[in-house]
Amino acid sequence: MHTRALGPFKVSAIGLGCMPMSMNNDNEYPDRADAVATIHAALDAGVTLLDTADIYAPSWDTFGHNEELVAEALRTYGTLPDGLVVATKGGITRGPGEQWGRDGSLEYLRTAVEGSLRRLGVDVIDLYQWHRPDRSMDYAEVVGHFRTLADEGKVRCVGISNANIEEIRIAQDVLGDGGLVSVQNEFSPRYRASEDELRYCAGQGIAFLPWSPLGGTGGGGRSVGEEFPAFAEIAADHGVSPQQVVLAWELALSDRVIPIPGARRAESIVDSAAAADLVLSAEEVSRCSATADEN
Ligand SMILES: NC(=O)c1ccc[n+]([C@@H]2O[C@H](COP(=O)([O-])OP(=O)(O)OC[C@H]3O[C@@H](n4cnc5c(N)ncnc54)[C@H](OP(=O)(O)O)[C@@H]3O)[C@@H](O)[C@H]2O)c1
Repeated sequence: MHTRALGPFKVSAIGLGCMPMSMNNDNEYPDRADAVATIHAALDAGVTLLDTADIYAPSWDTFGHNEELVAEALRTYGTLPDGLVVATKGGITRGPGEQWGRDGSLEYLRTAVEGSLRRLGVDVIDLYQWHRPDRSMDYAEVVGHFRTLADEGKVRCVGISNANIEEIRIAQDVLGDGGLVSVQNEFSPRYRASEDELRYCAGQGIAFLPWSPLGGTGGGGRSVGEEFPAFAEIAADHGVSPQQVVLAWELALSDRVIPIPGARRAESIVDSAAAADLVLSAEEVSRCSATADEN
């Protein structure tokens, strides 16, 4: 499996988005053993980046479900691969009656990070990402709270998510040289609006983690080849799945891009992981970009 830089880490060029196993638009969940088997299959395939979040859970009262699942899968795997990175997120709240909110206060984030550390069963979180801006607060102030968590040794690296270029610049300012390790924004053939952020990160040496890189749960990821036939045509030429071509196209946009395709089924992540080794010609990359532009 090819690797890419993620701050001080070197991780597989394709990560595993663990969310669908605990939260998805189909509202269909694998049983525990199948979910653990999916994470094990990802590790077997050479995946060394797992993305989770404290809010990924089937319901508000199972908050932390996905982090606990990741921890269980890692505990039961045997010898873990060198350089395995578990990335999680905080800053979104989820309470009784499915009330969702945001909280960027230091007090809340300290509690959130303690919860993630406990559920993941680790002393320090490899990569802690601010999940979504709390627009009621000053962006720089909240990023400063993430820096505090890093200074306190609870978090090794800091990333942000759902951020525009102005916010990325603020985070760079607050975190200092090399302090902002990653930006995780939605990006896929059906969602190109964050391409400016992707390009900006590429120029700054910041890892860009496309979320819902295939088009999301609820059918988007599964039907990407039907929605965007050029990916399916190129896939047929290579004898691979359209999903692999989508991920290879994203990888070709910049060596800072590390897609995190989600999966409930082991077959999905095993197939997606193989995209790290799929090389597209410049002409194929242009065709992919053009077809995505048309939509
Ligand atoms: N930061 C944020 O705000 C944010 C928001 C949303 C998501 N995320 C992160 O991004 C990750 C990925 O996004 P996502 O899960 O929403 O969407 P996605 O990766 O675009 O698509 C996942 C869907 O595609 C299917 N799939 C995956 N690989 C496949 C393959 N090779 N062939 C056929 N089908 C395949 C999966 O099927 P099966 O489930 O049947 O295996 C699943 O239904 C999440 O897991 C999460 O970690 C972050």
